[in-house]
Amino acid sequence: MSIMFFSVFVYFPFVSAACVLGRASQGEKADNTYYDSQILQYEPAHHGSINTVTHLSPDLCVSGGSDQVVVVYDWKQGQVCQSFQGHNREVTKVLCYPGSTWIFSASRDKTVLMWDLNQGDEPIQEFCGHELVVNGIAISPDGRKLCTGSRDNWMCLWDIESAKCEHRHNISRNLVTHVCWVPASFSVVQTSEDKTIRVWDSRTWQVTNTFPAKQYIQTHCDVSPNGHYLVSSSNGFGGQGCEATLWDLRQPGCKVVEYRGHLQTTACCIFLPAFPGGSGQIATSSHDSSVKIWDQNTAVCLGTLSLDGAGPLVSLAPNDSTSLLCASFNAGLQHIQVDHGSLQAQGSGAGSGGSGSLDMRVVARF
Ligand SMILES: *[C@@H]1O[C@H](CO)[C@@H](O)[C@H](O)[C@H]1NC(C)=O
Ligand SMILES: *[C@@H]1O[C@H](CO)[C@@H](O)[C@H](O)[C@H]1NC(C)=O
Repeated sequence: MSIMFFSVFVYFPFVSAACVLGRASQGEKADNTYYDSQILQYEPAHHGSINTVTHLSPDLCVSGGSDQVVVVYDWKQGQVCQSFQGHNREVTKVLCYPGSTWIFSASRDKTVLMWDLNQGDEPIQEFCGHELVVNGIAISPDGRKLCTGSRDNWMCLWDIESAKCEHRHNISRNLVTHVCWVPASFSVVQTSEDKTIRVWDSRTWQVTNTFPAKQYIQTHCDVSPNGHYLVSSSNGFGGQGCEATLWDLRQPGCKVVEYRGHLQTTACCIFLPAFPGGSGQIATSSHDSSVKIWDQNTAVCLGTLSLDGAGPLVSLAPNDSTSLLCASFNAGLQHIQVDHGSLQAQGSGAGSGGSGSLDMRVVARF
């Protein structure tokens, strides 16, 4: 295959062009268990539970789940843009390389497939070698290397162009749950079922730091755009565990704050894009069917959106400071709008008792 590594600056027009070829909305409506008529109902992206969602461009998202299909969806128009079929077990993670039309998908079928929105509907590359479900994928900042982590205890570093595994390393009991590349660095961070967080140096493919083990399985992580902070989320039951934790990557293992309030496993935690004049925020989603937004520094819960009936919420994708997508097991993808004005209008906001008053609403589902 040929990859144009340097064609990264002009992709949005190509994405739009590709989408014109997508099939039109069939106007299907899923049954409506809990929403009022204010919510737009679009053609469903998937049949079954959704495990992962990310953004390809401001208007296109990519998702995957139990139906084994990787779907590119135009969430402004409310229609499927492309469906990629190639996995034969559920899709666990999807990832896009910023500024390109590349899409990577990891699966319980032990492989990672690479797709290009502009190159038909067959995978353009396959990464085979893991012996169990692949739960983590990350791309190096230069777009040349793919890092994968699996429940098989192995972390692998692949050359994307040749699909060769160049480095691999197994660590006993390291059942990888998620992987992130630290922006503009050689470091990769991973969470694990053994409750620890490990930092790898991609040049030597050795662990350079291991954070003190938490009490429960670490399910997911995200790194702040400046590379200074890591947020990880925790498994849990009945309010025990279930927290997200902010760590300082410059002082590895240094815990900054914890975000406590979910009642079941917190499955996803992300840094939200800053809104003008606002302080940093973290968003979390949980098996308790709620999404919470937190003040990054004070750990006050600013708002909670309960999606009763939607089942576990295991993936979030922020678009800008006012909109994010949430993947659910029972009710498809949810487009959530956040009104920061609501918090300011109430005065002190973060200081006002912490019950959470940020206005969060579902405006569309698909
Ligand atoms: C996503 O964010 C961008 C930048 O703010 C905006 O232009 C775009 O309309 C948003 N997409 C949707 C579908 O709201
Ligand atoms: C790593 O994998 C090899 C080959 O499968 C195995 O023999 C070894 O015990 C593993 N080491 C650890 C630490 O899991």
